[in-house]
Amino acid sequence: MSESEPTPRPPRRKRYSGKNPRKFEDKYKELRQDPETLAKVTASGKTPAGTHIPILLPEILEILSPAPGEIAVDLTLGYGGHASALLEAIQPDGRLIALDIDSLELPRTEARLQALGFPASTLTVQRSNFAGLPKVLAGLGLEGVNVILADLGVSSMQIDNPARGFSFKTEGPLDMRLNPDRGQPASALLASLTPQKLAAILHENADEPRAFEIADALAGKTFPTTRALTEALRALTSRPEDVEPTFRRVFQALRIAVNEEFTALDTLLRHLPDCLVPGGRAAILTFHSGEDRRVKKAFAAGLAAEIYSSVSQEVIRPDPVEQHANPRSGSAKLRWAVRAF
Ligand SMILES: C[S@@+](CC[C@H](N)C(=O)[O-])C[C@H]1O[C@@H](n2cnc3c(N)ncnc32)[C@H](O)[C@@H]1O
Repeated sequence: MSESEPTPRPPRRKRYSGKNPRKFEDKYKELRQDPETLAKVTASGKTPAGTHIPILLPEILEILSPAPGEIAVDLTLGYGGHASALLEAIQPDGRLIALDIDSLELPRTEARLQALGFPASTLTVQRSNFAGLPKVLAGLGLEGVNVILADLGVSSMQIDNPARGFSFKTEGPLDMRLNPDRGQPASALLASLTPQKLAAILHENADEPRAFEIADALAGKTFPTTRALTEALRALTSRPEDVEPTFRRVFQALRIAVNEEFTALDTLLRHLPDCLVPGGRAAILTFHSGEDRRVKKAFAAGLAAEIYSSVSQEVIRPDPVEQHANPRSGSAKLRWAVRAF
């Protein structure tokens, strides 16, 4: 640059009202992972923007007991919190295969894991639906693995980013696709549904008590944004204390439908025993009754058929300390199964 050229001004710090940024896009210190800011936000019981706090991590490591040299699969990589602990535990000579369907977050997490400095051969990251696990393993020349973890649902990075349309708390396009490159957004799904089909989705995916009334009002209509949908729901809900629970159930039901989450989980549960070596361990973290019912039933059936040698008898839940530190862990339930010899 010549001396006569004016010195470019540094970019102006964005202004926001109040002491701390409230909008996702203003949380730039969190989004660029400033360590001091991350520590401060986490200590206040919140999940820093653009990150995810792994749930029941010590319990999962104890159950799965990943050992040096073993092959582990993280079916739902997310931010990589569980994955990095698995990676460390299987050193030396182990291998972690990590899957996720989210094409936006996956490369960022892969880069973070690679920066941990483990040998490149120990980590394989693939964008894949976990329903395709047998195909992924076959493609890698593997017949079975020692450890499988699934932490279902959405990550905090996905929920907190208004552009993804998962949250009723922020305005954004009504999208909700875990893989933004495939399928139709929630707005298109809603516009295409009959009241009968929408009522079934609301009932089956979220036990919505007013499924028929809500479906009659919403099905076949166009709601381009999360705000447009919450306004319509608010108009249908007379008691103020019912408003947020209704938003929560309707958003959950639509997300499950958009991503065909139960189909993927049922397929995974069918294939799971064949993907484990004898003595291999699997753990699944669920976040609502529709998921937990499926896991409980599949594990009990596998035990009865002697495909599994043991399964969790009781569900494992985050203790009050974890729930306080990470309120998003509140609804988590963990179950495990061990492949018979
Ligand atoms: C709760 S987060 C996982 C968080 C992760 N355990 C961590 O420590 O950061 C769930 C992740 O699963 C992914 N996911 C959901 N359904 C999936 C599926 N059928 N196949 C692959 N990934 C899926 C989501 O995109 C999301 O990134």
